[in-house]
Amino acid sequence: MNKILVATTNPGKLKEISEMLDFDIEWKSLADFPNVKEVKEDGETFDENARKKALGYAKQTGLWTLADDSGLVIDALDGAPGVMSARFSKQSRDSNGAGENRTLLDHKNMTKVLKLLENVPPEKRTARFVCCLCLASPEKVLIETQGKLEGVIAENQAGSSGFGYDPIFFVPALNKTVAQLSSEEKNGISHRGNAIRKLAPILQKLIKNQKRSPV
Ligand code: IMP
Repeated sequence: MNKILVATTNPGKLKEISEMLDFDIEWKSLADFPNVKEVKEDGETFDENARKKALGYAKQTGLWTLADDSGLVIDALDGAPGVMSARFSKQSRDSNGAGENRTLLDHKNMTKVLKLLENVPPEKRTARFVCCLCLASPEKVLIETQGKLEGVIAENQAGSSGFGYDPIFFVPALNKTVAQLSSEEKNGISHRGNAIRKLAPILQKLIKNQKRSPV
């Protein structure tokens, strides 16, 4: 059976990924490798960060590794907060917000976005959540996919589910913010869900070919 490491310590992310990629795979997380050195997310783009994490952890563990990087891109802010999404209200590249009070940080990040967009009219508040996934072996990148969710930044927060910028991310087709969706509804349309759905058939083929001609 193939073993794949998911470059996360978040059990929720591991569960979501392993359930959506329901093949003959033994899934591992960083919690199974307490001695690995943290790979910093200091790239300029989501792709770069995902690639850096996947290769970095694959090299350290010898396992195929799946890593993701995601965030919010707002057109009126020239793509910000982008790769700084987790720490937008702090603007410090050496912190990813880990260890801080997440809810408080999410709240400060959203307040900053709403303030910056204060005088921006509805038609110019377009935005998207982006997720880049990378699967790498210790030697090379094997698969890269990207998923998006298009929306508009609301003028106020609404809803209480989800995390991060969900309460201010309005999806016009559903007439709701992402924080007003159930987790199933969110997974069905989300950037992460879309990136995983794109990766699934490619990974399945890769595993099938590997079985035919093992390396
Ligand atoms: P990560 O790549 O999953 O660590 O996400 C980085 C940051 O992007 C998070 O801390 C959130 O601020 C934001 N973000 C990513 N995905 C979502 C989402 O699905 N909803 C709301 N915010 C998100």
